[in-house]
Amino acid sequence: MSDLSVQLETPTSGKYTQPTGLFINNEFVKGVDGKTFEVINPSTEEVITSVHEATEKDVDIAVAAARKAFEGPWRKETPENRGKLLVNLANLFEKNLDLLAAVESLDNGKAVSMAKVDISMCAGCLRYYGGWADKIEGKVIDTTPDTFNYIRKEPVGVCGQIIPWNFPLLMWAWKIGPAIACGNTVVLKSAEQTPLGALVAAGLIKEAGFPPGVINIISGFGKVAGAAIASHMDVDKVAFTGSTVVGRQIMKAAAGSNLKKVTLELGGKSPNIVFEDADIDNAISWVNFGIFFNHGQCCCAGSRIYVQESIYDKFVEKFKERASKNVVGDPFAKDTFQGPQVSQVQFDRIMNYIKEGKDAGAKVEIGGTRKGDKGYFIEPTIFSGVTEDMKIVQEEIFGPVCSISKFKDKEEAIRVGNSTTYGLAAAVHTKNLNTAIEVSNALKAGTVWVNSYNTLHHQMPFGGFKESGIGRELGEAALDNYTQTKTVSIRLGDALFG
Ligand code: NAI
Ligand code: MG
Repeated sequence: MSDLSVQLETPTSGKYTQPTGLFINNEFVKGVDGKTFEVINPSTEEVITSVHEATEKDVDIAVAAARKAFEGPWRKETPENRGKLLVNLANLFEKNLDLLAAVESLDNGKAVSMAKVDISMCAGCLRYYGGWADKIEGKVIDTTPDTFNYIRKEPVGVCGQIIPWNFPLLMWAWKIGPAIACGNTVVLKSAEQTPLGALVAAGLIKEAGFPPGVINIISGFGKVAGAAIASHMDVDKVAFTGSTVVGRQIMKAAAGSNLKKVTLELGGKSPNIVFEDADIDNAISWVNFGIFFNHGQCCCAGSRIYVQESIYDKFVEKFKERASKNVVGDPFAKDTFQGPQVSQVQFDRIMNYIKEGKDAGAKVEIGGTRKGDKGYFIEPTIFSGVTEDMKIVQEEIFGPVCSISKFKDKEEAIRVGNSTTYGLAAAVHTKNLNTAIEVSNALKAGTVWVNSYNTLHHQMPFGGFKESGIGRELGEAALDNYTQTKTVSIRLGDALFG
């Protein structure tokens, strides 16, 4: 590895320069302790390169840079300019779409066709929040004739953002967009499994014209750099996406340090409910996409499929047929739908769940095995014959594995739909408007799709009920996470108490 970058190549974008340093104050730098860690290609299990690792000391440096920018030039920047910079960044994502998508595929294993959609969604999200920057407005509140009261929406300050590996750049954009629109500065840690795209995108921050220190991007491990962010005394807010287990630790760290504001986007075990009057072929397409998209590595994956009993047998046959056609293989091949799981750890975790399901007596309708002998590929897997108490029905598997079972009526659908500790997403398939609305309203989930799945959009809030999280990302709702309300009350009349 050269000092701060390396020449790499992808099958679709050719040769490119991959930054490997920590991006602090608009420059790529080495970590203070000189540590590096390896980045693995999940399709081949080979080392792609190594990148510099941030430790607590680097987090301190990045936070100091973000603090200096926040208290200095960034505070004085006009909202209009903040918006312009985000739009510049969005344009650069579009200009570099093929490269960014290829790096995502190389690093994460996602099909390059899907990665391209991710990158356009990044651009859409950054541009959307660019549009918000000069529309964050306060209020005037009349109380008594001799006071003038107004409310300002002020930025929170230095925001620590910790993101996962399943949508490395999309999570980057979801976090950075609203934080910057509201006038905060950022220290973002990418996931240790997928640091590459975040660093290529870091280069675009400088090109977009952001002042030094406004957005800092570091690579590193959760227990070291992640924990240092969550417990830092000079980080005003932490936003996290990842496992529920770590979400709890982040809250504890915030509580045990400076009570920084916390937003969490955690796991799910989302129900996908098909009524007998649904358009069955349409429903099967969405159910298939709901669980197998991104190799099942979606927080909102529709991993529990419930089908009304009168159409159950027919549905299972057709669903098996459909899922068997999902092309699993090289993410850079044109028609690949499903690439490898992100890491050996995730691969083992998923294979363990599959074993659990088999041992508990569930029936493997299709899949249940590894595909090939190199790379972390797993066959699309459908379990039937499950009971509600089985681990594979209760716990997030985060892989191409789902369970399918029957329900009798609307009441039962709602009951099983709500029967986990999670509440991130759900879907209902029906042609009956009353059923659609009644069931959607009764499901305890942050997002409910009717006759579709996974159709997230940056204009619509996303986040969890129950143990799936705290706060909402995207849409206008995300601005609440990144602003705080200040009340200013001006006395116009004489002194009240003489
Ligand atoms: P994780 O929750 O450990 O990692 C997510 C991020 O948190 C990474 O950037 C990681 O470095 C960081 N992190 C880890 N420990 C930390 C700590 N103590 N303090 C601060 N930051 C920390 O998730 P992991 O281990 O990669 O995946 C485990 C499971 O989590 C998956 O099987 C899946 O069920 C769930 N998950 C959910 C995601 C979602 O989108 N909601 C995304 C990734 C994982
Ligand atoms: Mg972990």
